[in-house]
Amino acid sequence: MRRTPALRRLVAQTRLSSSDLVLPLFVKEGISEPAPIASMPGVVQHTRDSLRKAAAEAVADGVGGLILFGIPAHKDARGSGADDPSGIVQVALRDLAGEVGDATVLMADLCLDEYTDHGHCGIVVESAAGEHTIDNDATLVRYASIAVAQASAGAHVVAPSGMMDGQVAAIRAGLDTAGFSEVAILAYAAKFASALYGPFRDAAECAPRFGDRRTYQQDVANSDEALREVALDIAEGADMVMVKPAMAYLDVVARVRRMVDVPVAAYQVSGEYAMVEAAAAHGWLDRESVILESLTSIRRAGADIVLTYWAAEVARLLRDPR
Ligand code: PBG
Repeated sequence: MRRTPALRRLVAQTRLSSSDLVLPLFVKEGISEPAPIASMPGVVQHTRDSLRKAAAEAVADGVGGLILFGIPAHKDARGSGADDPSGIVQVALRDLAGEVGDATVLMADLCLDEYTDHGHCGIVVESAAGEHTIDNDATLVRYASIAVAQASAGAHVVAPSGMMDGQVAAIRAGLDTAGFSEVAILAYAAKFASALYGPFRDAAECAPRFGDRRTYQQDVANSDEALREVALDIAEGADMVMVKPAMAYLDVVARVRRMVDVPVAAYQVSGEYAMVEAAAAHGWLDRESVILESLTSIRRAGADIVLTYWAAEVARLLRDPR
């Protein structure tokens, strides 16, 4: 059954479709030109204008959705920019609601790390001995407020990525109380404490100033725990669940897929992108083939939706194969 391309196509079990792909976009407050990200060649921090243009093009290319990350001009301990109605993500969401509106799915990453001066995903408390811990429950109050700000600005989906316990329930309650019962939650449910987020922390300028994220993100060594995190998030009201990163965690994607009956997303993260781009730039890998193989494999493992920095390019490639 492998004899001809037509036969292989006929019996292919997994198909890649542009409508399954979500494009992450970065928008930075107060810049007048798009700023390249050195560790993610081809990806930029957008201005409001360049974001509008990139979003419109990606939607025309056929991507299934967009997810926004904001980089505020000023950061503080409580991440005030995250839920400020005139904060960068809220402003950009309103721009995009006008530009592409219901032609796509507008998602917003819901976290504090891009907005806090310490770079952590939650409210940090310091003990008398100088030890830092994250105040889980104080963070939930902030997350609920951010969710309402993003929903008011036009997000169809909010995507909490901070891995605080109880975050989905707190956000669902906050949204419902404010009249946003139709805004969906894509939970970063099984998010691992991965070194593959390195380039993203350049892109979002959010590397933690002290410590690391291992007290709230999942231990790389565990997959049973991922299933527990996913089950909790669904019980709390998650409409979709995500595994992150993707390629090194396909076992987790497959186990989650077997366990749940909600859509499963996987995030092909910045480090996965950077590795392929770097090797391809040296001529060590066939760039397009590896991109398509990686995405097909993530879908084969069981992801319905893939977040990937190559979403728009792959959408074009699927439409006009070379
Ligand atoms: C947290 C967040 C991170 C990513 C998405 N949301 C960074 C982190 O947890 O350190 C990483 C995405 C990527 O690496 O592409 N707001």
